[in-house]
Amino acid sequence: MYAEALRERFPELDPAVDDLFLLEAHQIGQLRDRAPRQELAIVLDLHPELLRFFVTRCPAIEPFLLQLLDERQASEGDIALAEDALVWEIADLIVYQRAPALYDEKAPRRWTRAALAEVEPLAGKMVVDSGAGTGHVTFLVAPLAATVFAVEPVAALRAYMRDSAREQGLDNVFVVDGFLDALPFPADSADALLTHRAIGWDLASELVEIERVLRPGGIALHLAGMPHPAEVDAPLHEELLSWGYEERPYEDGGTLNRKYFKQI
Ligand SMILES: C[S@@+](CC[C@H](N)C(=O)[O-])C[C@H]1O[C@@H](n2cnc3c(N)ncnc32)[C@H](O)[C@@H]1O
Repeated sequence: MYAEALRERFPELDPAVDDLFLLEAHQIGQLRDRAPRQELAIVLDLHPELLRFFVTRCPAIEPFLLQLLDERQASEGDIALAEDALVWEIADLIVYQRAPALYDEKAPRRWTRAALAEVEPLAGKMVVDSGAGTGHVTFLVAPLAATVFAVEPVAALRAYMRDSAREQGLDNVFVVDGFLDALPFPADSADALLTHRAIGWDLASELVEIERVLRPGGIALHLAGMPHPAEVDAPLHEELLSWGYEERPYEDGGTLNRKYFKQI
């Protein structure tokens, strides 16, 4: 589903099976939904050390991987093709680990002043940017807000953001480890929580967690990943509306984007 788009976006990446040893536990957990099954089985069959690594780092994935291997027919599939298909399908996870600067250069940047107008004025406000990546939203918001907490589960991306904040002389940016459904903040503590292409791994738990962390009157604003209308985002769209979010489409550079807004 993603391989073709990722090949186009990162032609210089040259991902390989070795890169799979860079994945973190939560990324290995995503293989269940994201990896092509037959290709993953072929690669694991050929590389038992990779199977051991995945299971050691993310024990919950073991039953799924063993079932895949059980289902695999010994004679099926070309190995080089399977390796290529597997690593490209999850090449975004590999880019985060191996090449944050490349990701930063190539990632879509749809959060703009137009989208931000919703949350201004941010002066004196505590803002959370969850799934911050390389800090696209964080660094847009930092000059406006009192403090920005950039929440990001991938260690390599956190290190990249810390270096960027230092280079830009920003002392109100705090980069922290966490997930959208497990934010490292007390209840009622944030004035605004923003996401850009970073919601929907476990939407119901994430929306509960956002409302725990936002103070009464605080706002949540999500910029979905896909241009509007996008089939891929349709379930996310319906669920956000059913949770009381308003959709506010806006145009930017000829692209119609979706922005979802809720005041607590
Ligand atoms: C598509 S990227 C978007 C990054 C950034 N917001 C941007 O606009 O460039 C998704 C980000 O969410 C992070 N992520 C993955 N799982 C997450 C989770 N459960 N909670 C929060 N962030 C997550 C990824 O590591 C990645 O940095």
